[in-house]
Amino acid sequence: CAVTWRRFRHYYSPMLARTSRRVLQQYSRVVQSSIHTADNEPMLMIPGPCVPTDRVKEQGAMPPINHIGELCMSTFKSSLSQMRKAWKADDSTYPFILAGSGTLGMEMAMQNLLEEGNRALVLSIGYFGDRFVDMARRIPGIEYHVEKAEVGYAFSREQVEKLLKQAKDEGKPYDMVYCTHVDTSVGVRTDTKMVAELASEYDALSVVDGVAGALGEEFDMSGWGADVYLTGSQKVLGMHAGLSLFVVSERAIERRKQLKSRIPPSYMDYEKWIPIMQNYEAGKPSYFATPATSYIPVLDVALNEVLSPSIEETWEKHARAARAVRKGFETLGLEVVAKEGCQANTLTAFYVPDSVTPVDIIGRVKSKGFQFAGPLIQPPEAKPYVRCGHMGLATVSSPDVLPRVLDSLQQTLVELKVSSATSLPQGAAANAASDILKKQ
Ligand SMILES: Cc1ncc(COP(=O)(O)O)c(C=O)c1O
Repeated sequence: CAVTWRRFRHYYSPMLARTSRRVLQQYSRVVQSSIHTADNEPMLMIPGPCVPTDRVKEQGAMPPINHIGELCMSTFKSSLSQMRKAWKADDSTYPFILAGSGTLGMEMAMQNLLEEGNRALVLSIGYFGDRFVDMARRIPGIEYHVEKAEVGYAFSREQVEKLLKQAKDEGKPYDMVYCTHVDTSVGVRTDTKMVAELASEYDALSVVDGVAGALGEEFDMSGWGADVYLTGSQKVLGMHAGLSLFVVSERAIERRKQLKSRIPPSYMDYEKWIPIMQNYEAGKPSYFATPATSYIPVLDVALNEVLSPSIEETWEKHARAARAVRKGFETLGLEVVAKEGCQANTLTAFYVPDSVTPVDIIGRVKSKGFQFAGPLIQPPEAKPYVRCGHMGLATVSSPDVLPRVLDSLQQTLVELKVSSATSLPQGAAANAASDILKKQ
């Protein structure tokens, strides 16, 4: 036996050593190639995802946790109660935190609140308003009307009231009104207070897609009587994408309970999640489907930040940042897509000068360290434009991020020989923005 072992070692151990070296090398190559960092990426100035704050980034580096463990439960409880504060939603409302994206919240607000014979009004101010239409056509037996605003415009009170009144006078009142707080495709903002109040006046429920507006734009869910307000984790909260966050009014939950001709798909059913969220809000473990566990402690931190010192302060920071960006664009001679009175605080889109294309601008700004986004609406519906996001506390609290972005844009326009920029003193756009950002 000893002889056999010696022979085996003599002939096979060099081979075994070579093989294990190869396996180890391959393994370490796999490990190395599967670790990615975003260190060399230009800074995100797209309208979400956006740059995280340091605390959100640190908390986001945590390993997976037990979905019914203490940390998950305590941060779920705290996040749900912070959502009420951030949404300005009273104790009668139902906050939800689900694994999913903003679109899930939109689809649930369709699937849970409409059935055969119902009528829905969709107020579309851009690409994401049209998404509601695509969802509505999947629900059998409902009637829906989509009212589309011209690019750059939102709806006035008179326009919305006319639609609601006409339907009522014809004996076919709307049951639901769907609208977009900020349409990310154009940077236009809906007057959501007006929509929610009018909807209540005409006995309809209102659903507001706040994916790109929530927490950066004023919103008072219970004060204004809105029925669903939804967002995603990758926007103002500055987290990774992956959480669908929304609050639903008692009236809307009642409507779900009254559905007769259909029920929503299981994962999308408010009814399935209500007892789970209620248990979480009481700090008790509960299970229907595994939540995005590791994101819950991050959400708790992110919500805490937007509520510190107050949600009003966070709205004001976004409003100031938007004014600074618009001033910078004006200095550069650029025309903002959204008309005055409906310009969003979380992103601004500008038409590109005739001599250049969106790609020219986006490419050159990117080489200077910042990522802009291209247009979502194409000619002939809209002239070519570029979108600049300015959402999230890391961006809007900084005194120098936005001036640096505007400086890169000014340099870009000079390189592209855009006449409105070539004669400007160096740093003109950045200085114009800084003056506004300094006014606290
Ligand atoms: C206004 C608006 N609504 C809905 C969505 C869809 O959200 P998600 O991509 O998280 O599904 C987005 C995404 O950017 C958006 O900006």
